[in-house]
Amino acid sequence: MAAVCFSLRLCSSSVVRPAAAFTVVRFAQTAAAPAPAAQPRIKKFQVYRWDPDRAGDKPRMQTYEVDLNTCGPMVLDALIKIKNEVDPTLTFRRSCREGICGSCAMNINGGNTLACLNKIDANTSKATKIYPLPHMYVVKDLVPDMSNFYAQYKSIEPYLKKKDESKAGQQQYLQSMEDRQKLDGLYECILCACCSTSCPSYWWNGDKYLGPAVLMQAYRWMIDSRDDFTEERLSKLQDPFSLYRCHTIMNCTKTCPKGLNPGKAIAQIKKMMATYQEKTTASA
Ligand code: SF4
Ligand code: SF4
Ligand code: FES
Repeated sequence: MAAVCFSLRLCSSSVVRPAAAFTVVRFAQTAAAPAPAAQPRIKKFQVYRWDPDRAGDKPRMQTYEVDLNTCGPMVLDALIKIKNEVDPTLTFRRSCREGICGSCAMNINGGNTLACLNKIDANTSKATKIYPLPHMYVVKDLVPDMSNFYAQYKSIEPYLKKKDESKAGQQQYLQSMEDRQKLDGLYECILCACCSTSCPSYWWNGDKYLGPAVLMQAYRWMIDSRDDFTEERLSKLQDPFSLYRCHTIMNCTKTCPKGLNPGKAIAQIKKMMATYQEKTTASA
């Protein structure tokens, strides 16, 4: 098979070369004719604006026009172009521009998503509407205040905990391949908060309900075979709000730009909690 491919490659190179040369000559002959200018494709972007440092400023939508012929394909490309070329005061978060850092999460045309992974709708007759993540306090323009979200994440102690710390730093904690696979679909979360801020229960009880992103990470550590604190982690969620405000509406899973399933993780915690409660009741 390898020999066949090799001979084909030789064969194609020897056949193609004269044709390629011919193509170059044809290009040279036609290069003088100016290419017709591409028709501008003007797209409107309506962006939420609010600057707390400007006295009396009220939230409003501001419209920007961008020629899609001179812009990258993603909504984040348009925002960066607007900031660089039209309005440097426009404020938003972004870093990696490839769906890894989670910082460009925002609400685009009604859905929470990452601006760097969201393709601009090429239909120029419709404006793209961009808001900050919903039901969060706004720091400025498209920047939400993530303090509560991060405090909730911290509260679940998102790191490996061992009962016996005497060997800490002296050994690796190994796990089987099967146990490692159980973490797939959980560890990939980039904490963008798209899911939590699309959850109606989180909108109304965000101060007490942990929300899908944080609960999925709580579950990630509960089922880590190397962690010794599964029951303690469960017991911390035993109140009417932290876990049980989830009503399995599944907005979270629908919106996750990484294709993860926080709704399922929450359902798994509820199952674990039922077993844990049976056990504690029996031993009481
Ligand atoms: S499944 Fe639970 S966490 Fe997800 S959106 Fe619905 S209520 Fe919120
Ligand atoms: S589960 Fe998905 S939507 Fe939620 S924080 Fe993680 S990556 Fe973002
Ligand atoms: S810029 Fe990092 S996820 Fe969009």
